[in-house]
Amino acid sequence: MQHPSFSRQPGPVGIFDSGYGGLTVFDKIRQRLPEYDYIYLGDNARAPYGPRSFEVVYQFTRQAVMRLFQEGCQLVILACNTASAKALRTIQQNDLPRWDASRRVLGVIRPTTEIVDSVSKTKHVGVLGTVGTISSGSYVLEIEKMFPHIRVTGEACPMWVPLVETGEFDSPGADYFVQKNLDHILSVDPLIDTLILGCTHYPLLLEKIRRFTPARVTLLPQGEYVADSLADYLHRHTEMDARLTKGHTRRFLTTESAEKFSEAASLFLSAPIRVEKIDLA
Ligand code: DGL
Repeated sequence: MQHPSFSRQPGPVGIFDSGYGGLTVFDKIRQRLPEYDYIYLGDNARAPYGPRSFEVVYQFTRQAVMRLFQEGCQLVILACNTASAKALRTIQQNDLPRWDASRRVLGVIRPTTEIVDSVSKTKHVGVLGTVGTISSGSYVLEIEKMFPHIRVTGEACPMWVPLVETGEFDSPGADYFVQKNLDHILSVDPLIDTLILGCTHYPLLLEKIRRFTPARVTLLPQGEYVADSLADYLHRHTEMDARLTKGHTRRFLTTESAEKFSEAASLFLSAPIRVEKIDLA
């Protein structure tokens, strides 16, 4: 079955996040797979998603994926842990079969969990994320399923996304919140030697996180693992690869002001970009 507003022509890869954070994943994906066409969509007008309910995150994410499919995307990456934790499965199971069973939506949680066993020596792993991601228990469930011998501790860091979205991630005020959450998770389980940055906004806080983390702890930002996993997926799924256009183009869509987005995006990407404002509903 095919939704009437979807084109059958090959198209770009869609990348979705609630705001700017997904640009940290997009940046690694475009370096790893530069030849593909990409459309990035940030729902900045409704970010942050972290404190929102399952139902709301699902509805917002569903609207964004639908829009990216209407723009011609054949494959969409949810470059957002909150959306991956709260909406991915429902979209895959309920919506895709009704819209177009041949399209794909992939998340960021699985590619990240796949590598923790090879990184952690103590087999004590911590996950830093939004309230939504941590309270969903998605990381704990995924890691326990894959590596039952690993102990996982989650820490919700509700202030970290607002610090990034408001451009305060480099300010002295940010030190307080970053240190507070790191001290807390490491006091809950002092044997943690690996910390997953389970939110695509957090790479912007990486320097600060490093500063307040003991040197024995390895930090895992997700971008590279997601990019590797996508490359591997396309290598294994040649039928999907054939449906993706490869013209090196990039489009950026935001639900907030285009000027604001292009200014903020310069923190994440080296080259200036052109941004289009859209409405989702
Ligand atoms: N960047 C998103 C994530 O990876 C969420 C940020 C938000 O709260 O909207 O979880």
